[in-house]
Amino acid sequence: MRVHKKRLDIIADVASFIKKGETIGFVPTMGALHQGHLALIERALKENQKVIVSIFVNPTQFNTSEDLVNYPRTLDSDIKLLSKLSEEIIVFAPTPKEVYGDQISSISYDFKGLENEMEGKFRPGHFDGVGTVLYHFFNIITPNKAYFGEKDFQQLQIVKKLIEIEKMSVQIIGCPIYREESGLALSSRNKRLNQKQLDESPLIYSILKQVKKDFGTKSVTTLNKWVSEQFKANDELTLEYFEIAKASDLKSIKRKQKDTKYRAFIAVFAGEIRLIDNIALN
Ligand code: PAF
Repeated sequence: MRVHKKRLDIIADVASFIKKGETIGFVPTMGALHQGHLALIERALKENQKVIVSIFVNPTQFNTSEDLVNYPRTLDSDIKLLSKLSEEIIVFAPTPKEVYGDQISSISYDFKGLENEMEGKFRPGHFDGVGTVLYHFFNIITPNKAYFGEKDFQQLQIVKKLIEIEKMSVQIIGCPIYREESGLALSSRNKRLNQKQLDESPLIYSILKQVKKDFGTKSVTTLNKWVSEQFKANDELTLEYFEIAKASDLKSIKRKQKDTKYRAFIAVFAGEIRLIDNIALN
């Protein structure tokens, strides 16, 4: 399996694929790979002739230096995992300098308000960082298709908007959330949970499922209140936000309207570790 650390090396590979008329699927990751990433990569392998996986802990999308420092970095085991999946995968694992040059900074994007909802409120600048790194990667890799998990549903909508803004031709593919048997959505951050936190964390998905069940019969206010009550007596989990929002523009709602698609979004702290999840409600 080829692993490139240099921009020029991956560009050379990409040029040879394009010359041969081969399609390129791209799965961007920050490493610490889990089954959720592997599901995206497996889909990319089925749908493209070449698959490039980036492993890059992107400094511009972290709000706190603590989170950036503590983010798990497991490049050697990630590479082993990928080579077991397919020797055909090409890994791009650059340094920040290879991606950004000497100036590690974000482009300031106007994602038409998508960036100001939920994650945007609690992680200012986060989506500028995501947009910027993907802008660089899409330019380097020129993929036909790029794959993203719906766990980061807001990110997925923002990436679609980025493609519009930057007039790029890559097709953005959203893939279902991959869960532990307990219901906990897979995330690289789960590696940092202690046993007590792991034991309590299935509550997040069970709450989302209950909200989905009750969505047709209960008001949004009642559901919001019920969710915040579920966390009051919990010593391990602290609710940061819960919102029911329109799937199209991610604006939270007070009242439901006909013929509109809604999702519930949640962010919870288990100690210092932030967990997010979401569910389609109708
Ligand atoms: O979802 C992630 O892991 C990151 O936000 C991404 C898309 C790889 C950009 O750094």
